[in-house]
Amino acid sequence: MPHSASATEPPLADPPRGIRAAIIMDGNGRWATAHGVNITDGHRAGGDALHDVTEAALDLGVSELTVYGFSTENWRRDPDEIAGIMQLFIELVDREAPIMLERGARMTFMGRREVLGEEICERMRWAEELTAGGTNMTLCIAFNYGGRAEIIDAVRAAVAAGIDPAVIDEDDVSRHLYRPELGAPDVIIRTAGEQRTSNFLVWQGAYAEFVFADTLWPDFGKPELHAALVEYARRERRFGGRTSEVVS
Ligand code: IPE
Ligand code: IPE
Ligand code: MG
Repeated sequence: MPHSASATEPPLADPPRGIRAAIIMDGNGRWATAHGVNITDGHRAGGDALHDVTEAALDLGVSELTVYGFSTENWRRDPDEIAGIMQLFIELVDREAPIMLERGARMTFMGRREVLGEEICERMRWAEELTAGGTNMTLCIAFNYGGRAEIIDAVRAAVAAGIDPAVIDEDDVSRHLYRPELGAPDVIIRTAGEQRTSNFLVWQGAYAEFVFADTLWPDFGKPELHAALVEYARRERRFGGRTSEVVS
């Protein structure tokens, strides 16, 4: 009998709850080109996808969702594109923070903030204070974020805190990362078919599982997140040992 399609296939089981997920949201430019719209409209569609995926992550019991919104290398782009991203970011924070509050989730940010200017810094502080009591999930937006910059900043902060450089260890660095309260991601998802980290979570991602999806970010939604988390749950993690015992 020929294999017939989805109608006869059982739906994917739900992934375990409590996953720490991170996403490299890539493909806004290709989506804009494919739809004959300008790049800023591509990024706007990306912001809408972030709303949908955040809701989906809450529904699926994700405990921490860290998303890559703007990298320290993205300053190489055209000034008009950058200005569009900054404006969209402000609008997104204004729109999403009250929704996070309503859903009992916390919103926070990681990256070098000061160079983003006072208007953006003020919005970040507002959103963080508004949602500080949220316990259902933490949404962390990496914005003007670079993994290498973060490691440098962490080491500098550890030294500034009085730790003897000669004895700085991994715990010292971890404690001085931008968001030390967040755990290492279990899974890093990248959309749009590229298979590289592009300087995302260089320290925290040391033992993350990677899941790559061909879907362009603006088209990524709940079914795609669900599938990526199920794919992650199938992996055997070893952390250097011979068993899949979890280390923190
Ligand atoms: C990701 O989409 C968003 C940012 C990097 C800000 P891109 O703009 O990189 O999309 P592509 O890779 O050009 O398709
Ligand atoms: C990574 O995507 C940064 C973000 C998604 C914010 P890029 O599109 O900037 O990465 P490269 O240049 O393709 O490596
Ligand atoms: Mg890209």
